[in-house]
Amino acid sequence: MMKALIPALRGWGVAGSDIHHESFGPQTSAPSPMPAAPGPALAIGFRWSGRTLDWLAQDTNLLDFAERHLIAVDAGCRSGGCGTCETRLISGRVVYATKPDHDIAPGFCLLCVGTPATNLELDA
Ligand code: FES
Repeated sequence: MMKALIPALRGWGVAGSDIHHESFGPQTSAPSPMPAAPGPALAIGFRWSGRTLDWLAQDTNLLDFAERHLIAVDAGCRSGGCGTCETRLISGRVVYATKPDHDIAPGFCLLCVGTPATNLELDA
Protein backbone atom coordinates (compact mmCIF):
# COMPACT_ATOMS: atom_id res chain seq x y z
CA MET A 1 0.00 0.00 0.00
CA MET A 2 2.81 2.44 0.90
CA LYS A 3 4.47 1.84 -2.46
CA ALA A 4 1.29 3.09 -4.14
CA LEU A 5 0.28 5.80 -1.68
CA ILE A 6 3.57 7.70 -1.36
CA PRO A 7 4.04 8.28 -5.11
CA ALA A 8 0.36 9.25 -5.33
CA LEU A 9 0.77 11.84 -2.57
CA ARG A 10 3.82 13.26 -4.33
CA GLY A 11 1.87 13.29 -7.58
CA TRP A 12 -0.84 15.33 -5.87
CA GLY A 13 1.77 17.92 -4.89
CA VAL A 14 2.45 16.91 -1.29
CA ALA A 15 6.07 17.77 -0.41
CA GLY A 16 8.27 14.81 0.50
CA SER A 17 9.04 16.48 3.85
CA ASP A 18 5.31 16.43 4.68
CA ILE A 19 4.93 12.69 4.07
CA HIS A 20 5.64 10.65 7.18
CA HIS A 21 5.24 6.89 7.40
CA GLU A 22 6.51 3.87 9.24
CA SER A 23 6.98 0.31 8.13
CA PHE A 24 6.22 -2.62 10.40
CA GLY A 25 7.03 -6.25 10.01
CA PRO A 26 10.07 -8.32 9.23
CA GLN A 27 13.06 -6.76 7.54
CA THR A 28 12.25 -8.68 4.39
CA SER A 29 10.64 -5.48 3.08
CA ALA A 30 14.04 -3.76 3.11
CA PRO A 31 15.90 -3.52 -0.18
CA SER A 32 18.54 -6.17 -0.75
CA PRO A 33 22.04 -4.96 -0.10
CA MET A 34 24.40 -4.43 -2.97
CA PRO A 35 26.72 -7.37 -3.51
CA ALA A 36 30.10 -6.79 -1.97
CA ALA A 37 32.81 -5.88 -4.40
CA PRO A 38 35.72 -8.29 -4.53
CA GLY A 39 39.07 -7.00 -3.40
CA PRO A 40 40.52 -5.53 -0.23
CA ALA A 41 38.24 -4.58 2.65
CA LEU A 42 36.94 -1.02 2.71
CA ALA A 43 37.82 1.17 5.68
CA ILE A 44 34.78 2.63 7.44
CA GLY A 45 35.68 5.46 9.77
CA PHE A 46 33.38 6.62 12.55
CA ARG A 47 34.80 10.01 13.42
CA TRP A 48 32.77 10.71 16.57
CA SER A 49 33.54 7.23 17.94
CA GLY A 50 37.18 7.46 16.92
CA ARG A 51 37.23 4.07 15.24
CA THR A 52 38.03 2.80 11.75
CA LEU A 53 36.83 -0.70 10.89
CA ASP A 54 37.08 -3.05 7.91
CA TRP A 55 33.90 -3.65 5.87
CA LEU A 56 33.76 -7.36 5.06
CA ALA A 57 31.92 -9.25 2.32
CA GLN A 58 29.35 -10.58 4.82
CA ASP A 59 28.34 -7.11 6.03
CA THR A 60 24.85 -6.25 4.78
CA ASN A 61 24.34 -2.57 5.57
CA LEU A 62 26.05 0.23 7.49
CA LEU A 63 23.56 0.15 10.38
CA ASP A 64 24.09 -3.54 11.14
CA PHE A 65 27.82 -3.00 10.66
CA ALA A 66 27.89 -0.13 13.18
CA GLU A 67 25.78 -2.02 15.72
CA ARG A 68 27.87 -5.17 15.37
CA HIS A 69 30.89 -3.07 16.34
CA LEU A 70 28.99 -1.35 19.19
CA ILE A 71 28.99 2.06 17.49
CA ALA A 72 26.04 4.04 18.87
CA VAL A 73 23.71 5.10 16.03
CA ASP A 74 20.01 5.94 15.98
CA ALA A 75 17.60 3.73 14.03
CA GLY A 76 13.88 3.38 13.50
CA CYS A 77 12.28 1.53 10.62
CA ARG A 78 15.49 -0.13 9.39
CA SER A 79 14.14 -0.05 5.85
CA GLY A 80 14.97 3.40 4.47
CA GLY A 81 11.64 5.05 5.25
CA CYS A 82 11.90 7.12 8.42
CA GLY A 83 15.27 8.88 8.17
CA THR A 84 16.22 8.21 11.79
CA CYS A 85 19.54 6.65 10.79
CA GLU A 86 20.46 9.52 8.47
CA THR A 87 24.13 10.27 9.20
CA ARG A 88 26.49 12.92 7.89
CA LEU A 89 28.85 11.50 5.31
CA ILE A 90 32.19 13.25 5.74
CA SER A 91 33.88 11.49 2.84
CA GLY A 92 33.33 8.56 0.51
CA ARG A 93 30.34 7.26 -1.38
CA VAL A 94 27.38 5.16 -0.17
CA VAL A 95 25.18 3.18 -2.57
CA TYR A 96 21.65 1.81 -2.25
CA ALA A 97 20.24 -1.31 -3.91
CA THR A 98 17.01 0.63 -4.52
CA LYS A 99 16.15 4.29 -3.96
CA PRO A 100 15.12 4.70 -0.29
CA ASP A 101 11.69 6.18 0.45
CA HIS A 102 13.27 8.82 2.71
CA ASP A 103 14.70 11.83 0.87
CA ILE A 104 18.35 11.93 1.93
CA ALA A 105 19.75 15.39 2.63
CA PRO A 106 22.84 16.37 0.63
CA GLY A 107 25.99 15.29 2.45
CA PHE A 108 24.18 12.59 4.44
CA CYS A 109 23.52 8.86 4.01
CA LEU A 110 21.09 6.27 5.32
CA LEU A 111 22.90 3.64 7.33
CA CYS A 112 20.10 1.04 7.36
CA VAL A 113 19.97 0.49 3.60
CA GLY A 114 23.34 1.86 2.52
CA THR A 115 26.52 0.03 1.71
CA PRO A 116 29.92 1.60 1.03
CA ALA A 117 31.19 1.97 -2.52
CA THR A 118 34.47 3.45 -1.25
CA ASN A 119 36.25 3.97 2.04
CA LEU A 120 33.99 6.11 4.22
CA GLU A 121 34.25 8.64 6.99
CA LEU A 122 30.96 8.96 8.90
CA ASP A 123 29.99 11.44 11.61
CA ALA A 124 29.01 8.75 14.10
S1 FES B 1 16.19 3.51 10.29
FE1 FES B 1 14.57 4.41 9.16
S2 FES B 1 15.58 5.16 7.38
FE2 FES B 1 17.14 4.08 8.44
